[in-house]
Amino acid sequence: MRILSGVQSSGTLHIGNYYGALKQFVDLQNQGEALYFIANLHALTTVRDAALARKLTFETAVAFLALGVDPKRSVLFRQSDVPEITEAFWVLGTVVPMAHLERAHSFKDKVAKGIAPDFGLFAYPVLMAVDILLYDSDKVPVGKDQKQHIEFARDWATVFNTTYQSQVFKLPEPQIQEATAVIPGIDGEKMSKSYNNTIDLFGDLKAIEKRIKSVKTDSTPPEAPKPTENNALYQLLKIMAPPSEWAALDQSWRAGGQGYGHFKGKLLEHYHATFDGPRQRYQELVADPAEVERILKDGADRARNIAAPVVSRLRKAVGL
Ligand code: ADP
Ligand code: TRP
Repeated sequence: MRILSGVQSSGTLHIGNYYGALKQFVDLQNQGEALYFIANLHALTTVRDAALARKLTFETAVAFLALGVDPKRSVLFRQSDVPEITEAFWVLGTVVPMAHLERAHSFKDKVAKGIAPDFGLFAYPVLMAVDILLYDSDKVPVGKDQKQHIEFARDWATVFNTTYQSQVFKLPEPQIQEATAVIPGIDGEKMSKSYNNTIDLFGDLKAIEKRIKSVKTDSTPPEAPKPTENNALYQLLKIMAPPSEWAALDQSWRAGGQGYGHFKGKLLEHYHATFDGPRQRYQELVADPAEVERILKDGADRARNIAAPVVSRLRKAVGL
């Protein structure tokens, strides 16, 4: 089984990215041949500064490694190091119906927010589809918000194979972990770097502690049982507490007798227990950019080898 996924290098990573995506990447490395990449071509739709683009690409690669993506077990690479991607992007794009792109959630959401759409934003799902299809991927682990993109990849693979009467592309399956499908931010909305509601993975610890202390709560008094529905603090604790401690924590939440401040303290404890190790590794890797580059270059070679047969099927099918 071939597993593939990517994360855009468009900002600093937060715990929503970890529990929604990266944690699955790490867990899945043992279940098949895993390919993970830094989607730095996708990031160009929002990052328009070369130095910043390079910095974010590097930091995203370091984050993957620090969180446990193991280059001995997985292929870790930069999207832009596989130039075949952009050729396949054009070729696949020639069979993609405009109407599909017009109803893409990601596109519609950004337009609704008043962002002036450009071709990059519009064509984004086509690039993502070739990311997946070029490596004959079987499973694509992602957060819920990416599900439509994978459905598009399946639809277009079928359209393409039918148009050219040839089995060029294999149909991938999304893998969405329902329990952690949407991680709430400190305001209770979906955690997202665009909403200023994140708890970051590798940022300044003081700022992170402040964020954890300001998770939105209601006015339930300390002695009363706490509500479990629509409560961001409860959801975050549930995601972060180790299973062995969750039952007791859940019980004290429901029983009452402890204020929200106490539970915020618990959340901070679990943050440290989970991320102190990765934060330490992150600092070590940041200090060794040559090693990170070596890993990415090696990953790109392996990724290009895996893509080679699909690229030749594609070129042959269309007459290039
Ligand atoms: P952001 O919303 O902060 O811009 P991205 O869109 O770059 O994050 O998401 C990167 C990955 O992390 C995707 O696979 C996405 O599904 C996942 N992800 C992002 N935010 C969350 C969240 N709040 N809950 C679950 N998964 C998330
Ligand atoms: N669009 C994805 C995101 O925002 C990143 C991505 C690009 C991706 N190409 C992909 C994810 C291919 C999975 C497979 O997170």
